[in-house]
This record gives sequence, C-alpha cells and structure tokens, in this order.
Amino acid sequence: MQDKINQYLQEVEAFTSTGDQDTENFRIKFLGRKGLLNDLFEEFKTIPSDQKKVMGQELNKLKNAVQLKLETLQQSNGHSRTQNEGIDLTRPSGIVPFGSRHPLAIVRSEILEIFSRIGFTVADGPEIEDDWHVFSGLNFPPEHPARDMQDTFFIRKGTENGHDEMVLRTHTSSVQVRAMENQKPPLRIVMPGRVYRNEAVSARAHCQFHQIEGLYIDKGVSFADMKQTLLYFTQEFFGKAKIRLRPSYFPFTEPSAEMDVYWGLQTEADYRITKGTGWLEIMGCGMVDPAVLSASGIDPNEYSGFAFGMGIERIAMLRYQIDDLRMFFENDVRFLKQFS
Ligand code: PHE
Repeated sequence: MQDKINQYLQEVEAFTSTGDQDTENFRIKFLGRKGLLNDLFEEFKTIPSDQKKVMGQELNKLKNAVQLKLETLQQSNGHSRTQNEGIDLTRPSGIVPFGSRHPLAIVRSEILEIFSRIGFTVADGPEIEDDWHVFSGLNFPPEHPARDMQDTFFIRKGTENGHDEMVLRTHTSSVQVRAMENQKPPLRIVMPGRVYRNEAVSARAHCQFHQIEGLYIDKGVSFADMKQTLLYFTQEFFGKAKIRLRPSYFPFTEPSAEMDVYWGLQTEADYRITKGTGWLEIMGCGMVDPAVLSASGIDPNEYSGFAFGMGIERIAMLRYQIDDLRMFFENDVRFLKQFS
C-alpha cells in the first residue's frame, strides 16, 4: 500500500494539464466515486490495526496533494481563459462622470470664506426651532404681525403647561440667539442654513431657501463698523465699490437698514434687474437691539453689535444670471453640469 501511495504521489506531483477536460479526468481518476483514493480507503479497512495510524497519515497526504494540485490547475486555468477570451487588462477604463458642486454650495462657501478672512467663524443651529429662538428671543412680541409677515410653518402649537411652540425656522436669526446664549462676547460668526416660509413656489419665491446670517458683538462696535464690513464683503464678492444703507425695520435690530449695492447701468440686463435704478437690494442688517442682547444674557451697557442676513439664492441668481429660483431645487443635471 505504501508503494502505491508513493507512486501516486509522484504521479500527482508530475501531472500537467492540457486543458479543462484533462484536469477533470485527473480529478475523476483520483477523487471520483470509483477513483484511486476510494480504492485505497477500502484497502485501508483491511490492514492490521497497528499500521493504521501511519497509513492514515500517508493517505491524507496523498488526498491533500491531489486537492492542492487541482486548485493550482484551476487558478492557472482561469488566467489562461482570460487570455483566450482576449480581455485586455491594461486597457484604460471608461471616463467616470464627475458630479459638480451645487451653485448654492459654491456661493455659500465663497461668502463664508470672505468673512473668514476677517475673523468670522461658522456657527450652526437646528431647522426645527422653538418660538423663543425664532421670535420671542428676537424681540417679536406675542401676536406681533411680524410673525405672520414671515409666513411661518407651525409644527406644534404651544400649550399652557409645558410644550414650546415649534416651527420651521423662518430665518437664520434664530442661530444668533443660540450663539449669544451659549458664548461670551466677543462674538464674530457667520451662520449659513436652510429656512422655510409658507409661500407658493414661483420663479421668485420658494417655501424653502437658504440664508447666511452674520453677527458681531464686542465692546464699542458701531454702525460704522457694520457699514465697513458690508462694504468689504460687497467689494470681495461682487467686485462692486459702492453701497448704500436705507432705513428699514426688523424687530431685533435698531436702527435697521437694507443694504443696496450699486450694480451699475452698463447693459440692458443691468436696467432689467435693477429696474432702471442701478441699485440692487442685497441684505437686511442693523445694530442688535439692546433688548435682544439682554434677553440672551449679554449686558447692553457693556456690549454692542451688528447683525446682517442675506438670501443665498438671490445672490447666486445675480452671480450666475439665473432668473428662475426653481432651478436650484429641481436637480436637473443639465443645469447642475454648468457649474462643474
Ligand atoms: N432675518 C432677517 C430676514 O430674514 C434678515 C436680517 C438678519 C436682518 C439680521 C437684520 C439682521 O429677513
């Protein structure tokens, strides 16, 4: 028996295959139901028991050798098959189409970058907010018409004992309140985010859009600081040199203003978008109302500050001459591809 095993081992060792069929014949010859290994295992039953241990090991050695051989043959066969089928593994793959950044994301990061150069850091807050952070903490009294002015989506009505009224935030000014509550001045932050208003969707309005809010609070911050900061932004972002501040009203700033940029009247489009005036309204701004500072635990006798807020869509529309707001939200790849 030992002799046979040795002879088979040599045979297995020496075997080379001429193809799939040859390999299969080899497998059947050794491992098949009537194969040589089965014969040997039959014979194994008849040998004296004191030889069984050694012979068992020898038999397993042979079986393992056959299996190892088969594995190597199958592997090298796989290789030769791809060669036969003419698959060229060195051929460069097709071009993978890259996505592009959304125009709103491009404009947002550019604005944040401009403010970061003068020391503003980015802050963040929730889109589902309580009444305090969206309205009351910003000096909107209860029943104040300004709450309707912003067409609020209400999520949960307040109850007398307990629950706060929850809304989808109508502006990013809510993040101001959170920042003032959580940090000690000096504060110099910009706060980008999505906001919601209950408005019918059209080319000019949407129930969801984006704003960037700015807040600067320190000792002795003045209206002149605000004006200079906004002028710096306008020059950096639009490359326009002239702004004006028109008196306006927000419950949380006093005095309040709208900032316009002088766009110019060079082209026909300039006439159209500025309605013939040359001026474009860019953002709301103002000195943080002392009542808002105290409500957030900041002493208005010690600190003052300014805030501003702008819509990212509006700015992106000006930058890229897009005249329908809905384009931003439809995810049409033909539109998005233009920004890659
Ligand atoms: N929150 C105001 C709006 O949504 C914009 C604003 C922000 C005005 C900060 C003044 C100061 O219209």
